[in-house]
Amino acid sequence: ALGATAIGPLCAYVGNLRDDPPPDFLVLPPGDFDLEPGQSKIIRYGPLPMLLLRTPPPEEILKIFLATCTHFDCIVGYKPEENIILCECHEGRFDLQGKVLSGPPPAPLPQLKQRKLDDERLVIALEEKNLDKALEQNT
Ligand code: FES
Repeated sequence: ALGATAIGPLCAYVGNLRDDPPPDFLVLPPGDFDLEPGQSKIIRYGPLPMLLLRTPPPEEILKIFLATCTHFDCIVGYKPEENIILCECHEGRFDLQGKVLSGPPPAPLPQLKQRKLDDERLVIALEEKNLDKALEQNT
């Protein structure tokens, strides 16, 4: 029931989806997070969209953010040409730590915690304590 699915366009308003509580954690199969350096995708975290991206070389780190802009909840996207996260609604720009670089967003993008569940799966959560809960329930 918590499966991740790809969702739509980057410049979209998600509004009151934020009113529904997200799950404590989400277990991702490899196909959901196997990204090449510089690639990104948007999947669901319960009612919320998440942005997964793998940073370009040499770091090649998987980063996962809530994809709702902190200004007015538009969906943000990774812009590889500039190596930033962009909200097209009002040109809000974030770095790959989620910090605001420019534009109207008043706060950073929340970054999800992540941990390998086993050799194949990844568990993600907004709070560190829920990663522990996921490990208890899935091992
Ligand atoms: Fe993202 Fe305004 S909603 S900059």
